Amino acid sequence: MQIIKYSFEIHGDERGQLVALEEFKDVPFDIKRVYYMYDTVEGVTRGYHAHRALEQILICVHGSCKIRLNDGSETQIVVLDKPNEGLYISNAVWREMFDFSSDAVLMVLASELYDESDYIRNYEQFLKYVKGE
Ligand code: TYD
Repeated sequence: MQIIKYSFEIHGDERGQLVALEEFKDVPFDIKRVYYMYDTVEGVTRGYHAHRALEQILICVHGSCKIRLNDGSETQIVVLDKPNEGLYISNAVWREMFDFSSDAVLMVLASELYDESDYIRNYEQFLKYVKGE
């Protein structure tokens, strides 16, 4: 599985840092939704799902966390700990987010509005989906 990480340009100066993200320029899709997780309880793992169509970019804008990705044949773990780094996750990838630092803020840019019918929340069903069964 190819891990796609974006390193966003930092517009830093003597006042501090600024990162700007534009759809189709810095991010390869139309940004229809943004959400973020914070105050994640220590030891918690979130996610446990894949999407039929949704594409996302995950940015840990503060603190750190880890993302476990599984495409049905292999698993990889990615550390997110830089506010200018984005992890692209395509559709049909099972994801779990874990090891959140107490100060972690995980922001997600999403290509579609929230749609529960786009979720695959059962791992066995996910494996069947990627095999085309
Ligand atoms: P959930 O899907 O459990 O989060 P995750 O699997 O990423 O850990 O979402 C938690 C709650 O937030 C759930 O009630 C659905 C709601 N939610 C929205 O209303 N809009 C959204 O865009 C997202 C991602 C979740």
